[in-house]
Amino acid sequence: MQQRHERVPAGAEHGDERRRRDRLRLRPHGARDALAVAARRPAQQLRAEHEPRLAAAEDEGAVREVVELHVVEPPSAVDEPLGVELLVEGVGARRAEDLLQAHVVGAAALRAGAVAGRHRRRLVEEEQPRVAPGLHDRRAAAAAELEPARDPALHGEAAPDLAALVVEAAAVPVHEPARRIGDDLAERGDAVAQRHAADGIRGLPDCAAPAPDDTAAVAYRTIIEPFRIHSVEPLRLTTPEHRREAIEAAGLNLFGLHADDVLVDLLTDSGTGAMSRDQWAAIQHGDESYAGSPSWYVFLEAVQELFPFRHVIPTHQGRAAEKILFTAIGGAGKIVPNNTHFDTTRANVEFTGAEAVDLPIPEALEPSVEHPFKGNMDVDALERLLAERAADVPAVFVTITNNSGGGQPVSLANLRAVRAACDRHGVPLFLDACRFAENAWFVREREEGQGGRAVAEIVRELASLADGMTMSAKKDPLANIGGWLACNDDALAERCRTLLVLTEGFPTYGGLAGRDLEAIAQGLREAVDHDYLRYRIRSTAYLGDALTREGVPVVRPIGGHAVYLDARALLPQVPPLEYPGQALAVELYLAGGVRGCEIGTVMFGRHPDGSEHPAAMDLVRLAIPRRTYTQSHVDYVIEVCTDVAARRDELRGLRIVEEPPALRHFTARFARVT
Ligand code: F0G
Repeated sequence: MQQRHERVPAGAEHGDERRRRDRLRLRPHGARDALAVAARRPAQQLRAEHEPRLAAAEDEGAVREVVELHVVEPPSAVDEPLGVELLVEGVGARRAEDLLQAHVVGAAALRAGAVAGRHRRRLVEEEQPRVAPGLHDRRAAAAAELEPARDPALHGEAAPDLAALVVEAAAVPVHEPARRIGDDLAERGDAVAQRHAADGIRGLPDCAAPAPDDTAAVAYRTIIEPFRIHSVEPLRLTTPEHRREAIEAAGLNLFGLHADDVLVDLLTDSGTGAMSRDQWAAIQHGDESYAGSPSWYVFLEAVQELFPFRHVIPTHQGRAAEKILFTAIGGAGKIVPNNTHFDTTRANVEFTGAEAVDLPIPEALEPSVEHPFKGNMDVDALERLLAERAADVPAVFVTITNNSGGGQPVSLANLRAVRAACDRHGVPLFLDACRFAENAWFVREREEGQGGRAVAEIVRELASLADGMTMSAKKDPLANIGGWLACNDDALAERCRTLLVLTEGFPTYGGLAGRDLEAIAQGLREAVDHDYLRYRIRSTAYLGDALTREGVPVVRPIGGHAVYLDARALLPQVPPLEYPGQALAVELYLAGGVRGCEIGTVMFGRHPDGSEHPAAMDLVRLAIPRRTYTQSHVDYVIEVCTDVAARRDELRGLRIVEEPPALRHFTARFARVT
């Protein structure tokens, strides 16, 4: 590990970035509990507990090197130590944390953070006065959040000192890996910092510090794009005549258009987002080694930071992960429940001969019904299915957010209940986690008791309830390509890796270039940023709320990544088997060059036995690419939709003249019903 550090010239800016990610530091998760627990344990007991765990962690390869381990002494007169402080280097932060009882260790990390925080604050106040204004608010919020640290019943005479340290640590971002506590802390911390400076190591930004009340930063009503534009892509304005020719040539299928003929492209939020400056910079770090690329380790750590699964298997996109997983666990006679399968998920389940069953809560099928967690699974229905068929269920899936059900979130409470049902029947639980960050933001906003938590924490809790996941990095991870499959089951991982080598690539790159792995890792960090998520969710709601005001029926409440127009309600004259969603989507394109996507009977109406039935709903999804369009683009879309809605009586249905055997919505050709 040390050698690795020496390979890159000390002080090189990007080299620092790289090494920083290689260094695992245990952060103060659950600091309050840690303070209570740690303060009561004698030093010998802590030592006895942790040393074997560390040894085991090293043996299992979860930790590559233990750099320091020592018992931390209290800052004032209580006779028990406060925790164990350690610095390790390795892969799999969460894995190591599990092994090391993070809640005890966290107390020490917190205090190390406090020291670094003091140092940092000096820097902030003396050298960057422009950063200082928000500091007081944040400190006050942190003080309130961490009030229990002052409790003398828990911490004796140390309580005031602890409270001060906690508040400092929480109020100031921690960027220094100093790890000492006591009178000599500052001095020893400086020595560590100097050594690290010489090595070019900067320390991890402390993204998991207790969440400050960051709403304090939002002083005005307008929620702005928290970025400015760095390079632009021109859009081409087209005439109605040009669009008519283009869509006729495409067989009235929006997937068949040349994208140059589209003005505002809301076909999908998948892979269409704008990458950040830092993602483009990360791409320059891409290492294309066939095996063991450093970019793989950067990716792995970023994934496990949020999703603490033992095995992570990179794929070129989400459906490749699905294909591998269902090849391994599917097959005739099997049944896979999901809140609602996405189209590729359903197709991959059915391709193996297994049955894909959707079990959304009843409210999910009523577009106009308001419900904070319309993505929830119907746990009673799941329980009934498992009581009869558990032996045939290789996994239960929950899609967060529920894309085909309107981009609606799943609550923590629901996921816990699903977990309990799975446990009762001995069935594993998997997440289809493409839009995990948006789901976690909704949990933070809407679920009782979650308001003060960092989104990253909520994501970790969602992940901790599952046994595995599939992921498309083209959604919330803010990349243009990528995905992964993760699980804790060693035997399953082995089978999936074998398939991976056959279909995607070697397990340290899967279907991706090293540069893609880097872009995803950086994107994952940006995806859980609160300013970004507040803007993201608000800008989707801005479109949906405006359409609601204009009387255009949309799925309520507004989801995370898209607004779903209720075509069945808007066009009652068009029966479901004449595809009201497709008819509406075509008209939006003709009217204003806006491309949406039918999610309804075209997408879901054809069944494996060849029969055709109306889908549960006929929707047109207007998916919002991440960080791509501005408010004026969205205002334009509102105008186009309102105009088409005003002419609703003129719209007629379509029929299919050509369709492939599966996933027909991509390539089917349509004609107008006359
Ligand atoms: N699961 C969900 C919930 C999805 O939304 C998608 C893709 C996938 C899996 C498959 O991932 O595209 O990387 O292979 N959804 C895109 C969309 C295509 O437009 O909603 P992928």
